[in-house]
Formats: sequence, C-alpha cells, structure tokens
Amino acid sequence: MMEQASAFSGKVVVVTGAASGIGRATVRAFAAQGASVVAADCAEGVHETVAGLAQALAIQIDAGDEAAVQQLVEAACDRFGGIDVFYANAGISGGTAGILDSTVELWTEVLRVNLIGPALAIKHAAPRIVARGGGAILCTASVAGLRSGAGGTPYSASKAGVINLVQTAAQQLATSGVRVNAICPGLIETGMTERAFTYARERGREDRLGQLNPLRRAGVPEEIAAVAVFLASDAASYVNGQAIVVDGGLSSSHPVTRQEFGKAAF
Ligand SMILES: NC(=O)c1ccc[n+]([C@@H]2O[C@H](COP(=O)([O-])OP(=O)(O)OC[C@H]3O[C@@H](n4cnc5c(N)ncnc54)[C@H](O)[C@@H]3O)[C@@H](O)[C@H]2O)c1
Repeated sequence: MMEQASAFSGKVVVVTGAASGIGRATVRAFAAQGASVVAADCAEGVHETVAGLAQALAIQIDAGDEAAVQQLVEAACDRFGGIDVFYANAGISGGTAGILDSTVELWTEVLRVNLIGPALAIKHAAPRIVARGGGAILCTASVAGLRSGAGGTPYSASKAGVINLVQTAAQQLATSGVRVNAICPGLIETGMTERAFTYARERGREDRLGQLNPLRRAGVPEEIAAVAVFLASDAASYVNGQAIVVDGGLSSSHPVTRQEFGKAAF
C-alpha cells in the first residue's frame, strides 16, 4: 500500500497496543498521513498491523515492563532516527471485578499495564521527543476513568490514574516542547469489547449497544484514531494536559429516567 505524504511526513510515531482495535487503527491512520510507524504489542497480530505499510516496524513487547519499554524506544530510534509521537494505548480490562472481589494480583496487573505502562512510556519517550525539538505523547484513558459504570474497579481506577498522569506529566514537561494528552473513549468495538458485541448480536439486540449516548450507537476504532492524529498534530498545538472524551456524548448527561425530557422532535 502506498501512503500519501502529508502532515506526518518525516515524523516517527510509536503506538502500543497496536495488534488490535484502537492501536491498529491508529497505526494505519498515522501511516496514511506519511508517518514512519512503530507498532508494539505483546500479541503476534502486531506484525499483521504493519503488513503493507512502507515505513513500519512491528515489535512484540510487554508495554508494562520497563526494560521492554526502553527496548521499544531504542528500537524506534535505531530504525527511524528518533521519536516524535508516542501513543501509550495498550490496556487490559481486568474483567468486571468490583471492590469486594478484586484480588491484589488483579489490582497489580491492571495497574501495571494500564497505568505504570503509560508512565514508563512518558519517562523513556519524552527525552527522545525533546531531542527532536518537541512533539506529543498520548495515552488512552477511558470514560471509566471519569466516573463509575464503565468497567471493573481496578480498570476504572487505572484509567483515572492515566488522566492524572497526563496532567502531572504536562506540567513537568513544561517548556520542553512535549505536549501530553489523554483520550477517553466510550464504547468502541474492539477486541476488548468483542464479547459484549457478540453476545448482543447473537440475541438480535445489537441496537442496544451504545444506546445510552445521544448518537445511539457504539464507536469504531477509526473514530479514536482520528482524534489521536489530531492531538498529535500541529493543529492541536495549544491542547496540553487534557483528557479528551470521545464517547458520542455519553458523559454529557446525568442519568435520567424520562428519556423524553427536553427531547427535540426529530
Ligand atoms: N474498546 C473500548 O470500548 C474502550 C473504551 C475505553 C478505553 N479503551 C482503551 O483503549 C485501549 C485499546 O484497547 P482496545 O479497545 O483497542 O482493545 P484491544 O483488546 O482490541 O486492544 C488492546 C491491545 O493491547 C494489547 N496489550 C494488552 N496488554 C499489553 C501489554 N502488557 N503489552 C503490550 N500490549 C498489550 C493487546 O494485546 C491488544 O492488542 C486500552 O487502553 C483500553 O483500555 C477501550
């Protein structure tokens, strides 16, 4: 596949969690904008993500392991000469465990991958991005990090941590030329949510998916990838330390029981 050289021509973009879902769509979106892309994931499918891309490298690593994150950063710099954008997107759901049934083992693993992983990405990628004269770091948080109701307790806490992480990192990287932002997706059809989508489809209840947001549908990975490309671009040059919600409007309302309340006649 030939990519059109454009906004990200000459830029190097690293994406974790790139074997599937949001990460895979984002790698392809940046490549379509002319970027050299480094796709990282612990799963083999990461090689398929870069198939057909001209300037691409796939690496199998654990995004929650410091030595592996360092290896990823080194590999990107060795292959493409530096890093301009790092998207720490890898994550696990940890299931639906609540506060009373979450084990220490579950807490430790969810926080390791979902929160410590992005912290390690910032720690090791930021100096390389500074060396290029500035750029952007993105992390995937979630609407689950804003309030309850979109995942298990360790997952929600880990994503709340990511929102705080980009705030503190943006402050600490002041004057470095590196902007740090998070994206908070709502319900997106990916590997993580596959079971819910399959379950609904098997029962003919696909129309229930995403019904709580005003767009009345779930999102697709490309709708998150488009926001990631924007946040990493010069068009977002004044967006820093923010958690950008991309959820079809889900989080814009308190829960209401009277659905017709204030509804326009469309
Ligand atoms: N799908 C949704 O509705 C939704 C909503 C909000 C936030 N998110 C977040 O979006 C991000 C991407 O998830 P997705 O929805 O595309 O799901 P996905 O399961 O399709 O993709 C996640 C990828 O992360 C990889 N991964 C998991 N642990 C890893 C590790 N330790 N090291 C390297 N790679 C690892 C997986 O192998 C997988 O390829 C996650 O952080 C997730 O929490 C998803």
